[in-house]
Amino acid sequence: PTPELWRRVDAYLTETLVGHDPGLEHAVADQRAAGLPPIEVAPVNGKFLHLIARISGARRVLEIGTLGAYSTIWMARGIPSDGQVITIEAEPRIAEIARANLERAGVAEKVEVRLGRAADVLPTLEGAEPFDLVFIDADKESNTIYLDWAARLGRPGTVVIVDNTVRGGEVANPATENPQIIGVQRGLEMLGRDARFDATALQTLDLKGYDGVALAVLV
Ligand code: DHB
Ligand code: MG
Repeated sequence: PTPELWRRVDAYLTETLVGHDPGLEHAVADQRAAGLPPIEVAPVNGKFLHLIARISGARRVLEIGTLGAYSTIWMARGIPSDGQVITIEAEPRIAEIARANLERAGVAEKVEVRLGRAADVLPTLEGAEPFDLVFIDADKESNTIYLDWAARLGRPGTVVIVDNTVRGGEVANPATENPQIIGVQRGLEMLGRDARFDATALQTLDLKGYDGVALAVLV
């Protein structure tokens, strides 16, 4: 398919299935106005995360990589009122934008934005109730570290999702020297090899282009 075709299909699917949510749309507009990179998940992908939260009956969600909290709002909308999303953001300015967007979307009481490098914040989450759903969407170089923490902070049955697992097809290039692609490859290899996970990945074509999402369950 040409980009023109898949964008038309994405617009059709989004218009037909995703609907409108002022909280989500405002979050994207604010994020753009603040000059953040336009790399939040596509609406069809946000709804996918939302449905995974509902299907899995998730009450506790961990997100690594908040950005403008677009995906955070989607997942918060998919958990019960006594549920909680903990989302980790490394940049103070971005965390503030995220908090404002969560407030405006009416989910602030369900979401805690933890400021810091995920590798520093994740160890502080040990010892609490296990997470039911983990969404990994931060610096790709660290995917294996984040997957290891997802396994440690989850329980059998916890759902783990990794964003950006195809990267325009570069994931299948064994000669790549791009550290982000290498991080994605190492993460997928870990999902395939590490007995704590049972996993697959799907290629996606949406308004962000050709990429993919990995889906795993903790054994
Ligand atoms: C990009 C996209 C993402 O979804 C992400 O998490 C990081 C980077 C990108 O297109 O560059
Ligand atoms: Mg992403």
